[in-house]
Amino acid sequence: MKHQDELLREAILAKVNSYSPYSSFRVGAAALLKDGTIIKGCNVENASFGLSMCAERVCLFNVYSSGYHKEDIVGFAISGDTDDVIYPCGACRQVMCELLNETCSVFLINKKDEYKEVKVKRLLPFYFKGDVLGE
Ligand code: THU
Repeated sequence: MKHQDELLREAILAKVNSYSPYSSFRVGAAALLKDGTIIKGCNVENASFGLSMCAERVCLFNVYSSGYHKEDIVGFAISGDTDDVIYPCGACRQVMCELLNETCSVFLINKKDEYKEVKVKRLLPFYFKGDVLGE
């Protein structure tokens, strides 16, 4: 994938802005768009723990609120200070399934900057789809 190195680098860099005073667990995410633009996000926590938001969702909401959609996204990367590559939480998988194309490549990165590549559709089989609403 063109710009893959930049995408991985930006997801790793995105951890720097993590606001995680409660867990000290930094997560960064980045989306690569067709035009080469990279949009980032990090986890943002709150003293009322349930209000915290994961990096993946911050990133994807940032993409959409900037006027882009799944058709514009060619790759997505997530970085954590983990030994194994980071695996996104269930809530983020649900959001990724809706906001990314199912064939979009997702790069999962560990603290040594090693990574694994998976397709979105492998992350959450039988995910809840909006097309059943209003049936
Ligand atoms: N976190 C993420 O940002 N993404 C994930 O996929 C898993 C967890 C964040 C949420 C919280 O700020 C911290 O990591 C510990 O759960």
